Amino acid sequence: MHHIDTTVGIEAIAVHIPRYYLDLRTLAKANAVDPAKYLKGLGGRRFAVAAPSEDPVTLAFDAAQSLMERYSLDPSDIGLLVVGTESGVDGAKPIASYLHGLLGLPADCRTFDTKHACYSGTAAIRMASDWCLARSGRNKRKALVVATDIARYSVGAAGEPTQGASAVAMIVSDEPRCLAFEPFQDAVYSEEVMDFWRPHYRSTAMVDGKTSINAYLKGLRHTWEYYKSGSGLDWDDFEYMLFHVPFPKMAYKGFKSLYEMTKLDQDKLDEEFDSRTACALWANRELGNCYSASLYLSLAALLERGDQSVTGARVGMYSYGSGSCSEYFSGRIGPDASAWKDRIGIAPGLMRREELSYDRYLSMRAACEDLSLEGSCVEHDTPPVPGQRISFQGIKDHQRVYSRVLALRSVASRSHSARAHMGK
Ligand code: CAA
Repeated sequence: MHHIDTTVGIEAIAVHIPRYYLDLRTLAKANAVDPAKYLKGLGGRRFAVAAPSEDPVTLAFDAAQSLMERYSLDPSDIGLLVVGTESGVDGAKPIASYLHGLLGLPADCRTFDTKHACYSGTAAIRMASDWCLARSGRNKRKALVVATDIARYSVGAAGEPTQGASAVAMIVSDEPRCLAFEPFQDAVYSEEVMDFWRPHYRSTAMVDGKTSINAYLKGLRHTWEYYKSGSGLDWDDFEYMLFHVPFPKMAYKGFKSLYEMTKLDQDKLDEEFDSRTACALWANRELGNCYSASLYLSLAALLERGDQSVTGARVGMYSYGSGSCSEYFSGRIGPDASAWKDRIGIAPGLMRREELSYDRYLSMRAACEDLSLEGSCVEHDTPPVPGQRISFQGIKDHQRVYSRVLALRSVASRSHSARAHMGK
């Protein structure tokens, strides 16, 4: 077994909840599908819908800014910013560079995005952990990791009820008050597979549903075996088991697969699933798939609702990214829930949401998709979503334009491009 003395992990975590949602019963009616297929068959309830003034940059900024404020973090302490995303807004320029400017991070902060579909968030987290370990004892700066995604499939496609959006911002450091990663050897499985992809010319994902489910489960079986042999841990050592959540029923399929491999009493499957995994799925059921952020949304939900009852628990985590790369890892929840209590923001964010009619959902997504098509991008005057801090205004001279939404509504809002904001 490979052990390292320094502990690294997640010191702080905050979630951004988009303002609008569609109820899956509304979608089922429009698609003339039995609602039970979406609610029971896929396990969802509602999904978040991005407004035209929102994009993966604004979601990431809202999550990161909330994190900085709620945990009283100083931007000058951030030495690394990594954004994990499937929904990159530019072929070359990373979301991290926009965020770096908008958050006012120091010039000597390394910034980049990671991309491997839904594995992107974990790629960012693992890079940030290694960065912290490599600097242990000589550089007390922290890493900021943001997983941000808008999952969109074509209208009427099988994937449509699994759509969603959200961003999760995390500080990775050697003060892992929320979750300390366990220092066992890596348990990774990669295999080239065409299960889910999004060509540059499309704003919606393509997917081979059954292939994607099989690839997810294959990666899980491999990484679970690697993890067990590398760590010496087994089923009973885990209090909680979290999974990438493309739709909540997929977490059940994953759990069941491990349960069967472990040859446990089948009568207890559902009971065990409820106590180890389902207790962390309540936010995923409300927001839908948020790709790179989905696994970390589950973790945030476990912490937020579990409060003091989850302290010290071991959490197994399975990350899957189509294409494909998967990884199993684990962590120990911190000893004191006051480290994250009232700072994550899922329940308050859900309380503020507004339900969309099916027609409004269609017009909102059409406006978002138009804006992402090359050549059709113009500045628009869509008002910011209530509570939004940065509003995406469209594309002018091939540059994305963001306007800072001032907290004081009486003050006229300043509009400027992110480029101008960064003083370039
Ligand atoms: N009442 C109750 N349940 C019903 C039902 C009804 N009336 N009708 C159907 N169901 C059940 C089915 O039995 C099925 O359950 P099981 O899988 O447990 O058998 C479930 O509802 C879904 O039904 P179908 O398999 O017929 O659904 P579908 O083929 O139309 O679409 C899907 C399902 C392929 C997952 C589709 O939603 C999809 O393509 N999603 C996007 C891809 C995806 O999420 N893949 C997951 C792995 S890849 C990954 O993890 C990366 C990522 O984030 C994308």
